Amino acid sequence: MRAIRCLDYGPIDDLVLDEIASPEVRPGTVKVRVRAAGVNYVDTLIVQGGYQVRTPTPFTPGWECVGDILEVADDVARDAPQLAPGTRVLVASGEGAYADETIAPAHAVTPVPDGISDGVAATFVQSYMTAVFALRHRARAERGQSMLVIGAGGGVGLAAVDVGVMMGLRVFAAASSEEKRQLALDRGAEAAFDVRDDDIKAAVRELMAQEGKTGVDLVYDPVGGEQAETWLRSLGDNGQFLVIGFVGGIPSLPLNHVLLRNRQVTGVEWGSWVGKHRAENDALLVEVMQLIAAGTLRPVEPTEYPLERTVDALRDLAERRAAGKLVVVP
Ligand SMILES: NC(=O)c1ccc[n+]([C@@H]2O[C@H](COP(=O)([O-])OP(=O)(O)OC[C@H]3O[C@@H](n4cnc5c(N)ncnc54)[C@H](OP(=O)(O)O)[C@@H]3O)[C@@H](O)[C@H]2O)c1
Repeated sequence: MRAIRCLDYGPIDDLVLDEIASPEVRPGTVKVRVRAAGVNYVDTLIVQGGYQVRTPTPFTPGWECVGDILEVADDVARDAPQLAPGTRVLVASGEGAYADETIAPAHAVTPVPDGISDGVAATFVQSYMTAVFALRHRARAERGQSMLVIGAGGGVGLAAVDVGVMMGLRVFAAASSEEKRQLALDRGAEAAFDVRDDDIKAAVRELMAQEGKTGVDLVYDPVGGEQAETWLRSLGDNGQFLVIGFVGGIPSLPLNHVLLRNRQVTGVEWGSWVGKHRAENDALLVEVMQLIAAGTLRPVEPTEYPLERTVDALRDLAERRAAGKLVVVP
């Protein structure tokens, strides 16, 4: 079978398309024929050895995918009858998705209901589960609150816009291109600002002043970098800065601006929470899939790349050209 291989940690361009033996089913695992694999920023970190967890090389990257079950281990057939061969499932195992076939622990494999396309099923888990976890569990966001989403036309940001709107928040989006801003507006953002040009802090403060507030209630920041301080200062009284990711670099935030107005900075690490709350996460995943199937949540249909162009997909994401989500199709 064909697979994208990371032979050694290094630049995305070092990834190779190779022919390797189909992985063998071991106890507790499921083998899946991949229909589509989601492209996430974290994949670019993993192949460069820049992620918290380092997968031993050589390996096949690809954090999540959708496909059909080919084979299951005997213990899986006995303990998880819903994972029968032929079932369309999503796989969120953290590796192995950029290939014709992949193998994953049964706990990372979930049947996908009808009404969710392959493209959406392959791309929503990381972005939407992070958004629901962040807004419900970490921020304890409430209807009527306001939220500024940074990188709002990227995977994680766009999901936060969608989930925020569903929860009844007033959502403001910041993104670098017209196409990305339009995606956020289409998902219900009230206003979308140009992250490169607009004075977003002044604009959101002015909007919030109309309801007697000193700034926004929440900032959702998957980007970080030098602008993070400006976003912190966009928060009003008791405002909360959600630390989601650092595609633009790890910022240093001045604590005096956390003290002012009684602000809070809240870390969000969905992955480590999943490890300790597997049953709760499984229930949340089913709930999110139901909301998508019902059309209440509306993940964007991804742009497709063939497997042999996986590097181009990862490069487009890393170089800020991707609007919405990207998917690799074997
Ligand atoms: N905390 C958690 O539990 C959790 C879970 C999942 C993912 N994450 C993190 O969330 C972050 C976003 O992931 P993603 O898959 O949504 O990525 P993405 O689709 O590429 O979106 C990231 C956005 O960042 C913006 N950006 C600003 N500076 C950039 C730069 N120098 N290079 C690339 N993009 C830049 C881009 O928006 P503009 O061009 O509009 O500025 C881009 O759309 C990653 O750091 C990931 O590790 C965190």
